[in-house]
Amino acid sequence: MRLCTALTERLGVALPILGAPMAGVAHGTLARAVTEGGGLGMIGVGSADRAELIAQEATVASAGGRLPFGIGLMAWALDERPELLDEAVAARPSLVSVSFGSPGPYVEVLHAAGILVASQVQDRAGAVAAAEAGVDIVVAQGTDAGGHTGTVGTLPLLQIVLDAVDVPVVAAGGIATARGLAGVLAAGAAGAWVGTCLLACPETASSARARAKVLASGETDTILTRVFDIAQGIGWPEQFAGRALRNRFTDTWHGREAALAADAGARRQLAEARDAGDFDTAYIYAGHGVGLVRQSLPAAKVVRDLGEGAVSLLAERLDALLGDEPRPR
Ligand SMILES: Cc1cc2nc3c(=O)[nH]c(=O)nc-3n(C[C@H](O)[C@H](O)[C@H](O)COP(=O)(O)O)c2cc1C
Repeated sequence: MRLCTALTERLGVALPILGAPMAGVAHGTLARAVTEGGGLGMIGVGSADRAELIAQEATVASAGGRLPFGIGLMAWALDERPELLDEAVAARPSLVSVSFGSPGPYVEVLHAAGILVASQVQDRAGAVAAAEAGVDIVVAQGTDAGGHTGTVGTLPLLQIVLDAVDVPVVAAGGIATARGLAGVLAAGAAGAWVGTCLLACPETASSARARAKVLASGETDTILTRVFDIAQGIGWPEQFAGRALRNRFTDTWHGREAALAADAGARRQLAEARDAGDFDTAYIYAGHGVGLVRQSLPAAKVVRDLGEGAVSLLAERLDALLGDEPRPR
C-alpha cells in the first residue's frame, strides 16, 4: 500500500509515517523495522550519547547501506558537541531532525551533504523561525507527545502551524492509531511522527520491564516534568519539560525542583534505579497515546496498520459524511 503526500515524495517511502527519534529507545533495530513497514525510521541521539553510536546504529538501521533512515539531534546539545552533527552527516541519512533550539546554524551543512532537514516546533513562532531557517519539514509537536515537548496540544498546534508556514508540516504527539493518522492527514499534515505507539515493540532498545510498564499504563498516567533532567544534571533548556510516566519519583519531586537540585541523595537514588531498571523511580518517557498501546507488536506491523487503517477510515468517513452528495473536487 502507498499513500502520497509531500513527505512520501520527498523521502521516497510508501507511507507518510516517521518513526520518532527517541534517545535510548529508537536505535538502529527499531528504525530499520519502521522503514521495513513502509515509513522512515529514525535513530534518537541523546545529548550524552557517544558519537560512535551514530555510525554503529546507522549501519543497523540501513541494513548495511540498503535502506533509508533518519537521525534526530537536539539543537541545544550540538552547540557543545558539534561532533554529533559531523557523525550524523557521515552516516548518510536521508533526513536529520534538529529540534529543541534553533536548527538555523545546521541547515546549510546538512543540505550541502544532500540531507533533508526537519525540526520539531512547539508554537507558531518556532514554526515560522524553522521555516525561515530553511528546514524542509516542520514537525508540529504537541504537548500530548512523549519525551521533551512544549505546552500546546497537537490539534490546535497543527492547525496553527499549517496556517503559518508553506513547507510540509508533519504532526507529532498523540498519534497512536489509524484514527489519529487519518485525522492529521485530513487536516492537511503531510504525515505523522510517532513515538509512543512504538514503545512496546520488541525492536526498541528498552528493557522488557519498561515495555511491560508501557502496556500497563493509561492516558492519564503521564506528567510533563523537569525532575528527571534536574536529577541527572542534563542541560535541557527550561521551556522543554519531558512527558513521562508518573511514578514515585515524580510524586515526590515534581513541584519541588529547587529542593531536588540540592539533594544529592535523590540524584543518586535515580541513577541507581536507572541501572537496576526500577521504574517506580527511574523514568519512562511516554505520551498521552500510551493509553492506546495495548499489545507488543512488531514495529513494521504497527506502521502498516496505521497506514492501511487510515486509508480505510478516510474513505469510509468521507462516504458516510457526504451521503448522496457528490464528492467535491
Ligand atoms: C521515549 C522517548 C524518547 C524521545 N527522545 C527524543 C529524542 O531523543 N529526540 C527528539 O527529537 N525527540 C524525542 N522524543 C520526542 C519524539 O521525537 C516525538 O516528538 C514524540 O514521540 C511524538 O509523540 P508521541 O510520543 O505521542 O508519538 C522522544 C519521545 C519519547 C517517547
